[in-house]
Amino acid sequence: MTLEDFLELAERRKSVRAYRPDAVPEAVLKGVLRAASLAPSACNRQPWKFVLVTDAARRRALGMAYDREWFWTAPAIVAVCVEPGAAWTRAYDGKNYAFVDGAIAMDHLTLAAAAAGLGTCWIGAFEPGAAATALGLPDGWEIVAMTPVGFPAADPSARPRSRKSLGESLVRDRWDS
Ligand SMILES: Cc1cc2nc3c(=O)[nH]c(=O)nc-3n(C[C@H](O)[C@H](O)[C@H](O)COP(=O)(O)O)c2cc1C
Repeated sequence: MTLEDFLELAERRKSVRAYRPDAVPEAVLKGVLRAASLAPSACNRQPWKFVLVTDAARRRALGMAYDREWFWTAPAIVAVCVEPGAAWTRAYDGKNYAFVDGAIAMDHLTLAAAAAGLGTCWIGAFEPGAAATALGLPDGWEIVAMTPVGFPAADPSARPRSRKSLGESLVRDRWDS
């Protein structure tokens, strides 16, 4: 894979908020989840679980936490969960890296899904209590984000991208230089 290939993939991944109802082949779902599990994590603690929800009633239950029809009617939902107590903590200031680890895993997942022609959309605006109940989340675990996974109903490439220019985001050598 070249840098151009990767940039093309990163361009291709866009938040998808309309899905076809067709099931995603199990092998493809497994591949996408494998990509998540290949993510780096602080001290290689891998303090995560990836909860795959395909059962229609359980997806509907998750919709109680984020009531958008395109979310819970997608053929699959993945919730990336982390256990902060099992994650690496920076000694200097006690900063816990569980959410960073979970976010990297989710990013791997969304890019892998895009490579497979699937759509995803990070969901952070869910009601955490309702989502924990729907997933049967054990004590000590938190949900970093969820995403629907399915084939996009429309071509995501048609939607323009809105990003700061690299010049606005890049700091060279020193912030105040
Ligand atoms: C941490 C995080 C939380 C997000 N939560 C939501 C959400 O709850 N609902 C939603 O529709 N999109 C959500 N998004 C998607 C963003 O709105 C989207 O990534 C952003 O507008 C850029 O668009 P793009 O993903 O198509 O490049 C979230 C994205 C991130 C990274």
